[in-house]
Amino acid sequence: MSSLLDRIKDRSANVVVIGAGYVGLPLAVEIAKAGFTVTAYDRSGEKVSAINAGRSYIEDVPTSIVGPLVADKKLGASTDPDVLSKADAVIICVPTPLNKTKDPDNSFILDAADMMVSRMHPQQLVVLESTTFPGFTREVLLPKLSSSGLKVDKDFFIAFSPERVDPGNQRFQTKNTPKVLGASSPAGLEHAVALYRHFIDTVVPVSSTDTAEMVKLLENTFRAVNIGLVNEVAIMCGRLGLDTWEVIEAAASKPFGFMPFYPGPGLGGHCIPIDPLYLSWKLKTLKYNARFINLADEINSAMPEVVVVKVSDALNERGKAVRGSKILICGMTYKKDIDDVRESPALDILELLHRRGAEVAYADRHAPSIRLDGGSLQSVSLDSVGEYDCVVIATDHSDVDYRTLVERSKLAVDPRNATKGFRRDYAQKIVTL
Ligand SMILES: NC(=O)c1ccc[n+]([C@@H]2O[C@H](COP(=O)([O-])OP(=O)(O)OC[C@H]3O[C@@H](n4cnc5c(N)ncnc54)[C@H](O)[C@@H]3O)[C@@H](O)[C@H]2O)c1
Repeated sequence: MSSLLDRIKDRSANVVVIGAGYVGLPLAVEIAKAGFTVTAYDRSGEKVSAINAGRSYIEDVPTSIVGPLVADKKLGASTDPDVLSKADAVIICVPTPLNKTKDPDNSFILDAADMMVSRMHPQQLVVLESTTFPGFTREVLLPKLSSSGLKVDKDFFIAFSPERVDPGNQRFQTKNTPKVLGASSPAGLEHAVALYRHFIDTVVPVSSTDTAEMVKLLENTFRAVNIGLVNEVAIMCGRLGLDTWEVIEAAASKPFGFMPFYPGPGLGGHCIPIDPLYLSWKLKTLKYNARFINLADEINSAMPEVVVVKVSDALNERGKAVRGSKILICGMTYKKDIDDVRESPALDILELLHRRGAEVAYADRHAPSIRLDGGSLQSVSLDSVGEYDCVVIATDHSDVDYRTLVERSKLAVDPRNATKGFRRDYAQKIVTL
């Protein structure tokens, strides 16, 4: 029988991707496009049925690409963990959220590993892609997989490769975004690099799984801290009566030593608000207080409240209270042109206004309904904006005509700078950060 490395090299290796979400589905599609036979193993019967019907449920992955791969039997999906028994390579892409006390919740990875242990066999490569704290692959996942009785670097290889998906990014997608890879040994790295080179244009090997884990957390902490800084700059500009965006744009004319970040209503999505807290949690166990991360989290988490105060003050100036006012949230997803509402600051704004007694509705073509208080809320049409006392531009989707929106509105609060080009024309009814 040929070796695992040979099977990886000649693309005859069977690949199973655990978790076919925002990260796992695009990855599975890319691996299948490279000529491997890929099975997406997911707990969700709905997602599995969609894939097997050749249908994508993720905006960045066109159904026109999934359909032919499924028809050619290069891509399939299953809820049956026994598909793991036939895998040469297993790539884990399950969620890694925070629990209620904002500590890492690695239970999804551990559940996935539980499914794997009894189904592991010699000559396997396991790659974790879910974001986690430095040391997790080596200290937690490896002992769990070793409980199968198989020996790492002899029977199986283990690697970590952080995901860098940027939903909605038209230029950089899975294939052309360079990918960092660390493994438990040079042989493990050789196997993992050989696999990933088939479907990722640039692979960046590093010395260990711990390093690869830390790379991801540096990237996301860098963003969280810089966004925290610029959100505080926005608060300071507000006090000084300055236009934050004008200040940032002018600073960005400096051709070196400055990189623009932009303020907004708060962080959202599965990465920036969450991942840095994996790092600060790990450092807490080593008796170190990660101050930049904690401060950025404090500032960024307070931004929805800052927006609500802007709404409240602007209504007050018009002789109105938040209680009883009709407020429309324009855009509910956590950033523009995507369909993901996870951790979206728009949800916090909606809830904070609702708690203060406002009558709140939202409009977002990308999120036709959202879960709220155990029930659901449906998106309304933006055409009704004139019926509201205030519209909050919480997400600046590209398919909205903001000039018309403002023209029809009584008051617009714009923490996204969506009204950039024409703010002066409507100075009386636009409020920014
Ligand atoms: N979404 C992003 O933009 C992004 C970017 C970079 C990194 N990441 C990281 O990638 C990981 C996955 O994130 P995502 O956004 O794809 O999550 P997701 O929620 O979109 O998808 C996860 C999938 O895993 C499935 N699942 C959960 N537990 C399972 C189990 N035990 N067995 C089988 N299936 C299981 C779920 O049903 C779901 O379909 C996370 O660690 C996240 O931090 C996400």
